[in-house]
Amino acid sequence: MGRKVGIIGCGNVGSATAFSLVNQQAIEELVLVDCLKEKAEGDALDLQDATVTASGFTNVYAGGLVDIKDADVIIISVAGPRPQKGETRLDELKATAPIIMEVVTTLKELGFSGCYVVATNPCDVITYHVWSLSGLPRERVIGTGTLLDSSRLRRVVANELKVKPHDVHAYMLGEHGDSQFALWSHSTIFGQKLEDYYQHEQSILDKEKIEKEVIKLGFEIYWLKGNTEFGIGNAIAQLTKAIVSNERAVFPVSTILQGEYGLHDVAISIPSVIGKGGIEKRIPLHLSLEEHRKLEYSANIIQTAISEIRS
Ligand code: LAC
Repeated sequence: MGRKVGIIGCGNVGSATAFSLVNQQAIEELVLVDCLKEKAEGDALDLQDATVTASGFTNVYAGGLVDIKDADVIIISVAGPRPQKGETRLDELKATAPIIMEVVTTLKELGFSGCYVVATNPCDVITYHVWSLSGLPRERVIGTGTLLDSSRLRRVVANELKVKPHDVHAYMLGEHGDSQFALWSHSTIFGQKLEDYYQHEQSILDKEKIEKEVIKLGFEIYWLKGNTEFGIGNAIAQLTKAIVSNERAVFPVSTILQGEYGLHDVAISIPSVIGKGGIEKRIPLHLSLEEHRKLEYSANIIQTAISEIRS
């Protein structure tokens, strides 16, 4: 059989991801796993209907961890409780870490040797937690990290400049959380620095305003509809496709660092080449002093949360 993917967690994010993968004809086999078996079975039947009118055929069915031990990619989209007002994604850790411990430990015993794509929050901390439990090389554990946040940054800038978001090359790095930051030094439109493009438009690039707007976008959607799903679903599908198709695409994703950017023992979003081995390369960028300071600050926040799991 061809490219096989398992999704653990058929909540809003897991279901949206499955729908995105089926519509993009990205894989041949998709196994849905959820503690609520009926939800996984219902999603599988519903998605089988979708495959009839999708561009290609995906064999979708519900199963257990034993059915995904030979998958190329396992997506972890276990949902935690929705953060309350004033809380952050880090507050989901108490609920999600124990579930991750049980699932990843079982999959290690079953001999899983593919790649993990982690979307469970707090994403960076859980990405590190999955790696520490998995017994896999760090290249095989990837968090969606600021991939979704970067899409949001591109959308905000594109709206201001009235250009297509795909033509705005702008990235958020650091934590998938409140300490993420925009990589302005490497953000361009057709190779032209964003600051210069704004100048030509007789406009001002208000970096702080845009950064704050992007950081709060996820919560804006939470408070309106109770969760996010479509943006993150497509981001997970994009990452999964890059792995199973060995695209060697470049994305800002959460990856375990052991010395890169002067950081150790942390999972944090930096630009990486994604292919069949997972992280094929971590791209060493020349960051401005301010950007490097922000990356270190973000890493400290994540490392503090990681130490909470150990305590
Ligand atoms: C968001 C969730 C995935 O930012 O953390 O939409």
